[in-house]
Amino acid sequence: MAKDEAQLKVDKNLEKIKNRLLVFSGKGGVGKSTVAANLSLAFARKGLKVGLLDVDIHGPNLAKMLGVEDKKLDVSADGIRAVDVNNNLKLVSMSFLLQDPNIPVIWRGPMKMKAIEQFLGEVMWGELDWLIIDSPPGTGDEPLSVAQLIPATGAVVVTTPQEVSLMDSRKAIQFGWKLGLKIFGIIENMSGMVCPHCGKKIDIFKEGGGEKAAKEMQVPFLGRIPLDPQIVTLGDEGKSFIEALPEASASKAFMKVAEKILESA
Ligand SMILES: Nc1ncnc2c1ncn2[C@@H]1O[C@H](COP(=O)(O)OP(=O)(O)OP(=O)(O)O)[C@@H](O)[C@H]1O
Ligand SMILES: [Mg+2]
Repeated sequence: MAKDEAQLKVDKNLEKIKNRLLVFSGKGGVGKSTVAANLSLAFARKGLKVGLLDVDIHGPNLAKMLGVEDKKLDVSADGIRAVDVNNNLKLVSMSFLLQDPNIPVIWRGPMKMKAIEQFLGEVMWGELDWLIIDSPPGTGDEPLSVAQLIPATGAVVVTTPQEVSLMDSRKAIQFGWKLGLKIFGIIENMSGMVCPHCGKKIDIFKEGGGEKAAKEMQVPFLGRIPLDPQIVTLGDEGKSFIEALPEASASKAFMKVAEKILESA
């Protein structure tokens, strides 16, 4: 079947994008957006050119997390210009198009697919080493659209350490395989916390669920990101965590995960 014009535009953009990475999970609130933002910053710190695309149409929060929520996309006849987060990192998100962030977007699947197609095809991404895509929770329309529009996409599954998340990760991995995504591996987020008072490690959500899932599904385990209350505080203030606190153990963990992904790309 002949490709339609929108897909041709996506293909043209993709010629200039060396690697693609989809961040997704079996369920919500596990830290996908936090991981997508900090991995993008980690790659950018290494001098790589990174585009970050937020395909969470209903709950876009990367702009807030990265301190660029007041910016708008520059839309002209030539295309859409992404918002610069820093010299090496640009962001496109639905939130830049909303008049009022408090009013929900009520769209059916095909409309979301269209929007994602435009983000991939109409945005002038330019030359990129990586395009990192943050998805909404679960295995629905958005990651499906991304996988269909851009073949040969890599993916990381984010999970939390408790046993129940094993089931969610299994589902997410199976979904990725079915769609032909290259699974870079599983990231275990919110994995233990160092007590600020006594310095001992506390495993709030247990430990090892992500690693266990990786072993069972025979995909790489990319590492653990500890719980750090400053991730919440800085995120709410719109300050980039690994930029603000590069020496924090969670920042070092993000850098390590980034290196592992780069090694296997
Ligand atoms: N390692 C961590 N330590 C402390 N807080 C964290 C950590 N990771 C994420 N958080 C916090 O947990 C909350 C949920 O994280 P985030 O929004 O990244 O999850 P998500 O998987 O993208 O959620 P959704 O499924 O709604 O898109 C946020 O307030 C974030 O700041
Ligand atoms: Mg999110």
